[in-house]
This record gives sequence, structure tokens and C-alpha cells, in this order.
Amino acid sequence: MRIVVLVSGTGSNLQAVIDAVAKGSLPVEIAAVGADRPGTYGVQRSADAGLETFEVNFKDFSTRTDWDAALLRKVASYAPDYVVSSGFMRIVAPGFIDAFEGRYVNTHPALLPSFPGAHGVRDAMAYGVKVTGCTVHFADAGVDTGPIIAQTPVEVFPEDTEDSLHGRIKVAERELLIKVLADLAGRWDSVQA
Ligand code: GAR
Repeated sequence: MRIVVLVSGTGSNLQAVIDAVAKGSLPVEIAAVGADRPGTYGVQRSADAGLETFEVNFKDFSTRTDWDAALLRKVASYAPDYVVSSGFMRIVAPGFIDAFEGRYVNTHPALLPSFPGAHGVRDAMAYGVKVTGCTVHFADAGVDTGPIIAQTPVEVFPEDTEDSLHGRIKVAERELLIKVLADLAGRWDSVQA
């Protein structure tokens, strides 16, 4: 199963995927890692691991439509079976969703449909929930919407800061993402057989 991973930031969840693949415990091929802006640590980590990388810099395009088309072209050029949004902080166009329907997987640091968006951890804390968590789901054209594949709950402690809580969520998120990808790879192999 070939995957392309999209990142916007540090790519710590991506690193866990890279490590699992390197250890032989996740039977997927990371065809490429791409970002929507230059200089992300996620792309740096991937280059360090010897992976193919690309950047489709949002700021290099005069229209949103042009960026959408360039991202789709670039990702499709790797012929991935699945595309994984791992901290990719942009909504993709409906055309992207159509091209990878049921094959575009997103992770989110909250129990969707609660607290979607760029500040899932902060928003959950502000609401005062005692349990939050992470979600891996098939993304559609909305903000962190689409069919849920798996979730893990994470308890919120009274002394938590956004960083401490997000840190614990990411530990759960990495494990969940790897498990979901392994499940999809199992299914993918049986589809191909
Ligand atoms: C992850 O917690 C991911 O769920 C979140 O960004 C973080 C990326 O961390 N994504 C979203 O909030 C999407 N709405 P990382 O770059 O260290 O893997």
C-alpha cells in the first residue's frame, strides 16, 4: 500500500509512521511527504529519512484554485493508494476529495465531531471536558468531518496545559494512526489479491 503523507508542521506523528515502516511493523510504502509551505520540520524529517519530499507552497499561487490543482497534480503523480493528512492544516478542494474518495485519511486531536478545527485541544480545554482524545477519519471537504475510522479517549487532568494535554493526545494519536494504517494495508492487500 503506497501512501503520500501531507504535513504543515513538526510531523511528530509522521515520524512515528516513518519509524514503524523502518522497523518493519507497518507494511506500507511512504511514496512521498508533502507540505503546503516551505521549511516544515515534517519535510526535513522525511528528507533525513531518505524519503521523497515536495512542497506546494500556498503562497506561490495567485488563486486558491491554482493551488488546489497543483496539490492534486503533485499528490496524484505518486499514484498513492491512500493520502494521509498528518497535521496538514488546510482544507483540500472537493476535486481532491473526489480523486481520493475513501482514501484520504485525517488525524485530529479531539473526539470528533466535537472540537474540529485548528485548535481542537485548546477548544476542548476551554469547554471544560474531562475526557477528550483523538480521531482518525476519512476526510471529506469539510473541516475535520467525514466518516470516523477509530478514536481513542484521553483523560484531561486538572493540572493540564494545552501542551501537556496535546502531548498525551499525540502519544495516543500515533498509536491509533499506525493501527489504522496497518488495518487499511491488510484490507488493501486482500483487495489486491
Ligand atoms: C496533530 O495532533 C494532529 O492531529 C493535528 O495537528 C497535530 C500535528 O502534529 N491536526 C489538526 O489539528 C487538524 N485539525 P505533528 O505535526 O507533530 O504530527
